[in-house]
Amino acid sequence: MKIIQVQNAVEGGQQAFELLKQAFLAGKKTYGLATGGTPETLYQVMIQSDLDFSDCISINLDEYVGLSGENEQSYRYYMNQHLFDHKPFKETYVPNGLASDLTAECARYDAIIQANPIDFQILGIGENGHIGFNEPGTPFDQTTHVVALTPSTIAANQRYFTSKEEVPTHALSMGIASIMQSKEIVLLAFGEKKAQAIQAMLEGEVTESLPASILQKHPNVTVIVDQKAASLLN
Ligand code: F6R
Repeated sequence: MKIIQVQNAVEGGQQAFELLKQAFLAGKKTYGLATGGTPETLYQVMIQSDLDFSDCISINLDEYVGLSGENEQSYRYYMNQHLFDHKPFKETYVPNGLASDLTAECARYDAIIQANPIDFQILGIGENGHIGFNEPGTPFDQTTHVVALTPSTIAANQRYFTSKEEVPTHALSMGIASIMQSKEIVLLAFGEKKAQAIQAMLEGEVTESLPASILQKHPNVTVIVDQKAASLLN
């Protein structure tokens, strides 16, 4: 894995954009996208850029179960606000958290990923090493699935909701197998809360207890970290 150290999230977003721009200029059309605090600076740079994504496809990692796209806490809403309303894509995919048959929704999402192999995948990382909503213990061969969120993930996400009770307990997530099929992956991590996960991901063993550790096996991963997230690296 290639590691790029940056001063802060703003510089990290710019660095990620440079990599994304190279993929774009090489004709790559399918982008795997993440939500959360981490990719916000990247999306700002994308919005300000003159790149035109109207011929491109985006496939998001995950969505909460039970929230509609109009709900301000949903990941569909986040993506519209942070990117798509400003930078239109030809097609944008986010799992449907309101699907009445969640198993069928997972199969539908896998078919979308199969039909549109991801050229360039953006990832954040959870404090427990999750990628997407693939929590510790998720099998590495997992495709899109329904996830029971761990107490630590619910606690971390609580900041976006008025109370802990409002945080959904389940989500739909692209699986690790699908993430690993992406041709290029850029993982971003900022802040000291991510330092332990980054250290384990880069220097620990490859284990399902630390989902992001599987990225050691991928041939084209760049990790962009600020000094705090890199602070435990040897
Ligand atoms: C979001 C996602 C998650 C986040 C991770 C970090 O779509 O898949 O894995 O990337 O929880 O979240 P932030 O960036 O808010 O620290």
